[in-house]
Amino acid sequence: MLFDTHAHINDKRFNTDREQVISSAKDCGVAYMLNVSYDERSVSQSISLAGKYPFIYAAIGIHPHYVKNHNESVLVKMEQEYLENNKIVAVGEIGLDFYRDLSPRELQKEWFVKQIHLAKKLKAPIIVHNRESNDASVEIIKAENAGEYGGIIHSFSGDKAMLNAVLDAGMHISFSGPVTYKSAADIREIIKIAPIDRILIETDCPYLTPEPYRGRRNEPAYVRFVAEEIARIKKMDFEEVAEITTQNAFDVLKL
Ligand code: NI
Repeated sequence: MLFDTHAHINDKRFNTDREQVISSAKDCGVAYMLNVSYDERSVSQSISLAGKYPFIYAAIGIHPHYVKNHNESVLVKMEQEYLENNKIVAVGEIGLDFYRDLSPRELQKEWFVKQIHLAKKLKAPIIVHNRESNDASVEIIKAENAGEYGGIIHSFSGDKAMLNAVLDAGMHISFSGPVTYKSAADIREIIKIAPIDRILIETDCPYLTPEPYRGRRNEPAYVRFVAEEIARIKKMDFEEVAEITTQNAFDVLKL
């Protein structure tokens, strides 16, 4: 039994076969999914998916790429939605992306902090996106005590110092398709030293497709390749990794 803790099934690349992708994930042992939002439209889409399928949960938040397109009214709307709907279980994805810099960095930081405050008000865990912004992310997570109600650093790409800082802050980390890439030696080192009870698995579909399907559209069924790689690195049984990471997701998301 697997839990894909970061999927974007709402993405338009699933418009022609969404039902089939969801049922094939179930057939492949993916018992639960968290559909993660990134803008106002995907917040609504995530909520309707979670309403339609008992095994799909929703995270709502504004991704650092898109914060420049929103105003504060979306925060008020998300707060109301969260309070009214028990299938919404986290605030995310929120954070910083200094790789693509699609929104100004200061604005990204401002919105990261604002959405951490929203999550704390709701006593909700957070889903954090971090790319090429390790120091700034850690600084904000520490200063805001952002792990107070738990959280996940999604598709973890940090170094050992960042790993220790976020574990100390009470956060979990999740891994996605790139752990299967030849070039991912650094991430495999992180998996070696990270405690299994703080690790989650995800696809980030339709992005970050694992081997052997790299280059194609990603989908939740492929989360098993991430679990298999973690099992190999940590010299554990696949079933054990599946069971522990699923339990970890239940713990973080308070399901
Ligand atoms: Ni994502």
